Amino acid sequence: MAKKILVTGGTGYIGSHTAVELINAGHDVVIIDNLYNSDRSVLEGIQNITGYRPEFHQIDLCERDRLEAFFAGRKDIAAVIHFAAYKAVGESAEKPLMYYRNNIVSTLNLLEAMIGNGVKPIVFSSSCTVYGQPDALPVDENAPVKEPSSPYGNTKQINEQMIRYTVEAGNPLGGISLRYFNPIGAHPSAQIGEAPQGIPNNLLPYITQTALGIREQLKVFGNDYNTSDGTPIRDYINVVDLSRAHVVAVERLMNGHNRQGYEFFNIGTGRGHTVLEVIEAFEKATGQKINYQIVGRRPGDVEKVYADTTYANQELGWKAHKTLEETLLSAWNWEKAYRKNIKAQ
Ligand code: WQD
Repeated sequence: MAKKILVTGGTGYIGSHTAVELINAGHDVVIIDNLYNSDRSVLEGIQNITGYRPEFHQIDLCERDRLEAFFAGRKDIAAVIHFAAYKAVGESAEKPLMYYRNNIVSTLNLLEAMIGNGVKPIVFSSSCTVYGQPDALPVDENAPVKEPSSPYGNTKQINEQMIRYTVEAGNPLGGISLRYFNPIGAHPSAQIGEAPQGIPNNLLPYITQTALGIREQLKVFGNDYNTSDGTPIRDYINVVDLSRAHVVAVERLMNGHNRQGYEFFNIGTGRGHTVLEVIEAFEKATGQKINYQIVGRRPGDVEKVYADTTYANQELGWKAHKTLEETLLSAWNWEKAYRKNIKAQ
């Protein structure tokens, strides 16, 4: 049954890929984004892939009046998927209050506007960072939420709790948090992908920019960890696989199949790879040599984290399918297309 879904942060990396998968599943999409860390041109990319252009409103969720005005009188929004947030771990450590204000106030305004306008289900973009360095691996949903390693991670924890307690207070919301591991890659069409502004914080965009010669050299942060080659382990999940988990989650809520008001799921591949393994797999998949140098550890990095996906596989009926190699190739194809497009402008 086609429904109209509001996607906040929908011109961002994961939001735009989720918009595509919602459209592919037959739903209509409304995007709210303040374009702080994304560009309106993403709407063209979504339309080029699907033939459908989402309704778009440039609104900052922290501007409560504008958000209330958006919802006023609308009865067509069936659910919300909430991505809009600042998400740079390092920046959050430098500017904690900027992160608390933006990431908390935006969700507070959104929840109040949803309840005030009778919009019920919400799917929240959370992160495995809530687990910190898990005591046991692979990490499942029973693992304790730990002291956050950054203000960014803390805002994810606080947002999850705001949604949980709002649901448990009997408000009509149904809530699902999806705790992502490390999203990488791009849509196979190379029409949309990750477009970090400035120097990338994350590994994959830094690799693709190094391969393209935009960056001189990739710095590998530490090879003295207790892993096979000394570099940290992460669970790198294809962004399209990840986006499909949001479609499954929002349909679960809209169909009333959620066993309890508030649920959360670990969304990963269940496999871990070291940084050097990712570099090697990228070189193999693309034929591009990566110039890198081992340097000191990055403060705040955990040694290894990867998901136990049993619960998401069985309860959500969702599983990641794409291989690391095809995912790395999709990132490379996107980087080349994106830079060519920038040059052409
Ligand atoms: C991965 C690995 C680095 C860059 C964070 C957040 C998570 C999500 C993704 C937003 C680590 C190493 C990286 C580089 C490197 N955030 N690395 N050189 O830190 O695991 O996760 O970003 O959506 O919530 O916690 O991701 O890509 O920054 O790092 O060696 O130039 O790559 O040390 O081992 P991270 P990352």
